Amino acid sequence: MVQPVRIIELKPPYPAFRIGPVDVAPPLLLAPMEDVTSLPMRLLAKRIAGPGLVFTEFVSAMAVHYKARKTFKKLRIHPDERPLAIQIFGGEPDVMAETARLCEEAGADVLDINMGCWVPKVCRTGSGAALLKDPETAQAIVGAVVDSVAIPVTVKVRAGWDYSLFAAPDLAKRFQDVGARMITLHARFAKQGFEGEADWQLIRELRRAVTVPLIGNGDVRTPEDARRMMDETGCDGVMVGRAAISNPWALRRIRCGLTGEPEPSGPTIRERVMTALEHARMTIEYESVGESDLRDAEIRAIRSLRGQLPLYIKGEFGAAEIRGRLSTLDSYAELEDTLSRYLEQCERHAPATT
Ligand SMILES: Cc1cc2nc3c(=O)[nH]c(=O)nc-3n(C[C@H](O)[C@H](O)[C@H](O)COP(=O)(O)O)c2cc1C
Repeated sequence: MVQPVRIIELKPPYPAFRIGPVDVAPPLLLAPMEDVTSLPMRLLAKRIAGPGLVFTEFVSAMAVHYKARKTFKKLRIHPDERPLAIQIFGGEPDVMAETARLCEEAGADVLDINMGCWVPKVCRTGSGAALLKDPETAQAIVGAVVDSVAIPVTVKVRAGWDYSLFAAPDLAKRFQDVGARMITLHARFAKQGFEGEADWQLIRELRRAVTVPLIGNGDVRTPEDARRMMDETGCDGVMVGRAAISNPWALRRIRCGLTGEPEPSGPTIRERVMTALEHARMTIEYESVGESDLRDAEIRAIRSLRGQLPLYIKGEFGAAEIRGRLSTLDSYAELEDTLSRYLEQCERHAPATT
């Protein structure tokens, strides 16, 4: 059956949908993002914004196969973040199937397969977006993974490798035929990287090709964007990536835009700073599990957040002056000191807004 495409503007609440037994309510998904959507970030996003489904950063099936310790860490999950999708990538059906089983054992509610990553180190191994050029292998991988687990299997694709072929409709039909339960389209071609704008028309076209839930992704930053994507493309849900980095409040506004709940005010600068510090503490705890050298774990944790910490206060009064400092720290004490002084300065400058 071909899904009808909505052409009228719907009013929130936009309905929840299901991926097999998993309820996705509201129809808002936190995108998988390498080095970003680690357990601490997902927990914060869940608590503040309440997306219907969160994704881990992608996990290399080959690294799991070789029992790489750093990779196994990515399979740690927490009940409060449920429902959770673990995303894996790889180019070999057997290895992907084996990793999928481990992810299921680890407690994933959904197993997602990455066919969108365009970076050479991933594509060189025949994984990620390279599979957009190899429909037979791509289908074999999805089939093997579906056969290996009881949880629903989903696939995240880009439109195609380059502009010469909009490959997603044929691929998505193949994946649906072998049992995939949801398709997400990042509406760019692999060759684009993050250049240009996402072309939501491609999501609308893909809508006609599949009956399983279809998730639209690419350049959603505001509640208005999310509603427009739902209305213009007929997709079942919206996935948000970059807008949610160090900004769970943006994700919360998008959630409210989809559910019709009133948007809470804020965040204040104090909330931003306190959340950044909490993110850092949670990341230190996360990095410390099973480690004997706790100082080393702390350094790793703080360094891993160097790109994200400045974003918590981006655009706020005086943020530019401490940005450099935030991206060179490697201890929690220094971070707390820097952000506390900054907060004091903000509160002296504009007490009414803090
Ligand atoms: C830092 C970063 C890391 C990413 N890592 C992944 C990943 O591990 N798996 C994946 O499927 N996509 C990954 N993506 C792509 C996002 O999931 C998403 O498709 C893309 O950012 C477009 O959505 P946006 O415009 O809402 O950011 C990543 C994007 C960013 C910015």
